[in-house]
Amino acid sequence: MVGKSYSLVTKVVAGSASQRLGKGLSEALKCDLVQIESKRFPDGEGYVRILSDVSGETVAIVQNTYPDQNMVELFLLQDATRRAGAKRIITVVPYFGYARQDKQFQPGEAISASALAKLIEAHSDATITVDLHNLNTLASFSKPVANASVMKATGEFLKGKADAILSPDKGSIGRAREAARVAGVQFDHIEKKRLDGSTVQMTPKELNVRGKRVAIVDDIIATGGTMMKAAEQLRAQGATRVIAVCTHGLFTGGALDKLRQSFDEVHACDTLESPASTISAAGSIAAEIYKFRS
Ligand code: R5P
Repeated sequence: MVGKSYSLVTKVVAGSASQRLGKGLSEALKCDLVQIESKRFPDGEGYVRILSDVSGETVAIVQNTYPDQNMVELFLLQDATRRAGAKRIITVVPYFGYARQDKQFQPGEAISASALAKLIEAHSDATITVDLHNLNTLASFSKPVANASVMKATGEFLKGKADAILSPDKGSIGRAREAARVAGVQFDHIEKKRLDGSTVQMTPKELNVRGKRVAIVDDIIATGGTMMKAAEQLRAQGATRVIAVCTHGLFTGGALDKLRQSFDEVHACDTLESPASTISAAGSIAAEIYKFRS
């Protein structure tokens, strides 16, 4: 351990999907990173083992719930940590898979985000999410829960790089506005209409971006369709530089390579590890853990 920790968390367990962020969180909290063994059997089933003593400790388990096998690994880590004698478990879900199915869009559907919330907290004492797609999902948790926002870190990162920050849709207005406030630059949003799972139509909107360096800030980049449409609009309106920034970079189907052709820069946080992970969520998560203490 380096220095004195003021956090209630005394150990951090980083699942295989969140190694880098888990290490960053243990450094931010000034507490130990637990050694674990994590492997897959030939049939694909997961296996985990806690290798350090966590008896009587308050443990933060950091693990994404995407794709599904990482969700199962999270459940195994919660079980192993509890069996190893941990006093309290705080589950940190950097990227909360299924968060976009946050309501019944059609009769008969599952509310996947709510179903997942219940499973995640079943073997945990508290949960921390990061830039959760819809904050209403927090109401699905019955135990203590908090959402860490990386928008302050994003705003700091964009200081001096952008003259304006835009939300690509109404859903991300709150997040992008906060990044713009911290960066001390103009804010606006673009109107978007989703036609199907991979097609997005951007409704032209008069944005004062001529001659400006513009950053588009979203919570998730999946196919990159939203961002690429927005980049087209902004370049057509005279933006001199366009930067794509998101919290969660899924980058499905080679999206990162495609985005790098449309944008001058592409950045994401380390909630999902990729070559674009230039902003860390560790400080924002640590700040929420500190709040649980008081
Ligand atoms: C949607 O509401 C989200 O905030 C993102 O804008 C969306 O998930 C991005 O998806 P894609 O990269 O596939 O356009």
